[in-house]
Amino acid sequence: MSRNEIKNQIFDLVEKYYMEFHHQETPSLDRIPYAGRNFDQKEMINLIDSALDFWLTEGKYCKALEDRIQGFLGVKFCHLVNSGSSANLIALSALTSPTLEERRIQKADEVIVVAASFPTTINPILQIGAVPVFVDIDDSLNLDSSYLSQALSPKTKAVMIAHTLGSPFNFNSIKEFCELHNLWLIEDNCDAFGAKYDGKMTGSLGDISTLSFYPSHHITTGEGGAVITDSPKLSKLILSFRDWGRDCWCPPGKDNTCGKRFSQSFTKLPDNYDHKYIYSHIGYNLKMTDMQASIGVAQIEKLKSFVEKRIENWFFFHESLKEFNNVFLFPKTNELAEPSWFGFYLELKKDIPFRKKDLIEFLEKNNIQTRQLFSGNITRQPMFDNLELEKEYRIASPLKRSDQAMDLGFWFGVNPSFSESQKVFIISKIKEFLSLYGY
Ligand SMILES: Cc1ncc(COP(=O)(O)O)c(C=O)c1O
Repeated sequence: MSRNEIKNQIFDLVEKYYMEFHHQETPSLDRIPYAGRNFDQKEMINLIDSALDFWLTEGKYCKALEDRIQGFLGVKFCHLVNSGSSANLIALSALTSPTLEERRIQKADEVIVVAASFPTTINPILQIGAVPVFVDIDDSLNLDSSYLSQALSPKTKAVMIAHTLGSPFNFNSIKEFCELHNLWLIEDNCDAFGAKYDGKMTGSLGDISTLSFYPSHHITTGEGGAVITDSPKLSKLILSFRDWGRDCWCPPGKDNTCGKRFSQSFTKLPDNYDHKYIYSHIGYNLKMTDMQASIGVAQIEKLKSFVEKRIENWFFFHESLKEFNNVFLFPKTNELAEPSWFGFYLELKKDIPFRKKDLIEFLEKNNIQTRQLFSGNITRQPMFDNLELEKEYRIASPLKRSDQAMDLGFWFGVNPSFSESQKVFIISKIKEFLSLYGY
């Protein structure tokens, strides 16, 4: 039998396995997770195909996934990494390169962020020895751009923010501020794949953007992420920091892509030292494997339908709960923003006769998974206990709105695989809870 005949037999069996043991998994009311992996036989076949190739490291599936992401976002460069957190670390590290001269982010330089964040949107700033400068969010749960000028100092080099829960931040005013003050804009697009701002895809707007492919995200590769840019210079720096800090940009298994492998000279190194072993940065190794990417290649075909379903589910929940606007505050959507929802956020109004904890416990007891707005006001987290205010971090505005979200907000899923009965169940349980308090 030929290689392809054997492969096809294996793939037929994989499909059978999928139909027998995964396809039958009917959405149940016993557990309503906020998100999860949504897949069919195609993801499993790709994964087996890459296992049979046994290439293991970055290979043809990585290239295919990078190409698809570039096409989807309309950007020039996409580099895969092993998580969204790694993507943020690489994005920021790339901007520390001495080759960026006066725009390089150095120790004690400042990066403007919001306090209500996922921790690894902030951590890379501390990890490179720079100073996060916190400002508050507004009712869209995104950066309140009216605080930007009071966060600015002669040390400010960048703004690094996420599109919170899939809802695009106020890009035009933030970009204008960045251009005016020559600042980098790093767009954490981890929760917003598929969102748009003024008709353009988020993830194509900043100097660098990032994605996460953890199973709760819009598409998954298990663990995984990507760093994206339109700039050839930043693309090279991203690759260098991702791949051990090397100067060479050959893909794994390839030698001499630059054609100058043995013909370059660097001071302090032996003449014509192999370019493959020249290190221009203090880098990492945070690459994705081809097996992970193979899953992503099947997933990205489904991205559009996942996004549509997430939006549809968000609107279902909003329509069903909007009459309770005396109890709940719903997040505002910025002008020109078209969210690709990550979750359905609810915030309790201040003068109601129950606490957030009561509602969350009731939902969790009824098997409905809930989540917090990540760290809430991250400066209240224990990780800040040993950091020195004004030296290692700064707070540039009152963080009242972030505190409010931490104290009164939570969210549940808009999982594209929710069945009608699961969605109706979630709403019926919220209404049942509210009726206990006479609503
Ligand atoms: C906004 C944001 N950025 C970064 C990350 C980190 O992604 P990962 O879990 O893939 O490291 C997350 C995780 O959910 C996130 O929500």
